[in-house]
Amino acid sequence: MCGIVGYIGARKAQSVLLDCLGKLEYRGYDSCGIAVLNDGIEVRKDAVRVKALAKALAPLNGTTGIGHTRWATHGEPSKVNAHPQCDCTGRIAVVHNGVINNFQKLREQLAEEGHTLASQTDTEVIPHLIEKYYDGDFVKAVERALKDIEGSYTMIALMAGESRLVAARKDSPLIIGIGDRENFLASDVPALLDYTSRVIYLEDGDIAVVNAGGVRVKNNGSPIVREEHKILWSVEDAQKGGYEHFMLKEIHEQPRVIRDTLAEYIASAEPIADLTAAGGTGPEDLLILACGTSYHAGLVGKYIIEGLVKIPVRCEMADEFNYAGQVSARNKALVITQSGETTDALKAVKKLKEAGCEVIAITNVVGSTASRLADRTIYTRAGPEISVAATKTFLGQLIALYWLALPYARVDIRRLDELVRELRQLPVKVQQVLDNEAAIADIARQMAGYENIFFIGKGINYPVALEGALKLKEISYIHAEGYAAGELKHGPFALLGSRTPVVAVVAQDNTCEPVITSIKEIKARRSPVLVLMSEGDDDTAELADFVITVPQIDPLFSPVVNSVALQLLAYYVAKQRDCPIDFPRNLAKSVTVE
Ligand code: M6R
Repeated sequence: MCGIVGYIGARKAQSVLLDCLGKLEYRGYDSCGIAVLNDGIEVRKDAVRVKALAKALAPLNGTTGIGHTRWATHGEPSKVNAHPQCDCTGRIAVVHNGVINNFQKLREQLAEEGHTLASQTDTEVIPHLIEKYYDGDFVKAVERALKDIEGSYTMIALMAGESRLVAARKDSPLIIGIGDRENFLASDVPALLDYTSRVIYLEDGDIAVVNAGGVRVKNNGSPIVREEHKILWSVEDAQKGGYEHFMLKEIHEQPRVIRDTLAEYIASAEPIADLTAAGGTGPEDLLILACGTSYHAGLVGKYIIEGLVKIPVRCEMADEFNYAGQVSARNKALVITQSGETTDALKAVKKLKEAGCEVIAITNVVGSTASRLADRTIYTRAGPEISVAATKTFLGQLIALYWLALPYARVDIRRLDELVRELRQLPVKVQQVLDNEAAIADIARQMAGYENIFFIGKGINYPVALEGALKLKEISYIHAEGYAAGELKHGPFALLGSRTPVVAVVAQDNTCEPVITSIKEIKARRSPVLVLMSEGDDDTAELADFVITVPQIDPLFSPVVNSVALQLLAYYVAKQRDCPIDFPRNLAKSVTVE
């Protein structure tokens, strides 16, 4: 977590840094700060959002600086714990993203050596170590300091009297934006879209010395050339475009996301990835690993692939897999991560690769760590997703999974044609769900007063229920739980009653009847029921207190339209409760810690 930025050039650093930080707030937003090089170093920071800090600041003069927006790991959000963190002399300032595992030992050592550390952060040891090792060479002092640190330490350091920034990447992303006699550093591309489309992705272990005229990168003590990439995302992609929140804009972008993602896959004559097992015998079994919403996409993928390709698929949460999962070289694995930077997902990739397993990544971010570690990458074309709640990237992941499975589908040619036709119809069907927004918003307003809500689904819509509950709890702070429809009676029924509504996802397949039975059992326990179902299913509608309809669709694709309806439901419930929708409390977009 945390967003870090750096600037060196001819512009006023203060406004560049604050502008870039504002675009990185999805990574963390409990406090923020900047340090600007003037005669010495001027640090301004507080436990406030970037806009509030910007408003409170008087103009600073320097044209070189660093900045940080924080998602607290060590020490509560407060002014003293906000970054930049400085050394004793106030001549060295550092912003950091990651966790220093041995910081306690380092703090004690530094204290014994006479350093006074003021914050509770792990980060503060870095400027003090640089101070300790500084003997006239700033770069060498940073290199030496990093040798003492265990853990993840993507960081940028600034020193009074030095017209350069020194940056290091370890275990979380850092890019350099190349300008005309100016250079930028940032955790992620959206921060830099206003300034440049030329970027260099740093690799783990890289140390970069950046000045206005150039960049030098070293890895393991040796100079190394890192390729420059052109960014295809536009400035508008990372703006709200007239919507009140990024989340709403991103929900509305989904017909376009499906079209763009499919267009790219269709253009390629080959399957987007080879599912053939290591023995070359055709797909045998598959392991899917992911976290959060991406894990829910993976679960839908399990139903898609098992249903079409008829092979066993295991889908596990990456973090659980990292501790207990068994894997063999014969496994083929899919790791799904929209950001491509989630630590738990990246650890899974490393574990899989160590076991000799071939890894296919599905990600939305070109050049992300996952894409560089995996054997093959399938990109979703969702464009930058700014809202912490994942929506359009989830849909992009589903499209990738459908397209991945189709070439291997064990179905006759007529059914295959039917499926491809239905897939191409998805943008239109999703648009129809979006056109029903006002009705969904109306129901959302009626649901917004409850404090506990269950979501149920069955078969391929079971993960849709999980995702619906995650979306709702994440942005509205209502306690929501997703359950397999048949499981609710094995315990959670004890919580049902008139103050605990249940959202039931009903699909037109063999799960329809059992879900209707569950709805009747739930109604008998007086819980209000919101049914999400296809248009025209009047019998099911009669059972419900609230109804949201989606267009009729092949059940295999029902997760797509159902998820969009539940995204809108969550959005409008959160809006009714006046929640900070794009930046929910305690969360961050990209979870780069364990
Ligand atoms: O970038 P990733 O797909 O790896 O992120 C995984 C989760 O952190 C993410 O999906 C999270 O659950 C979202 N905030 C959900 O909306």
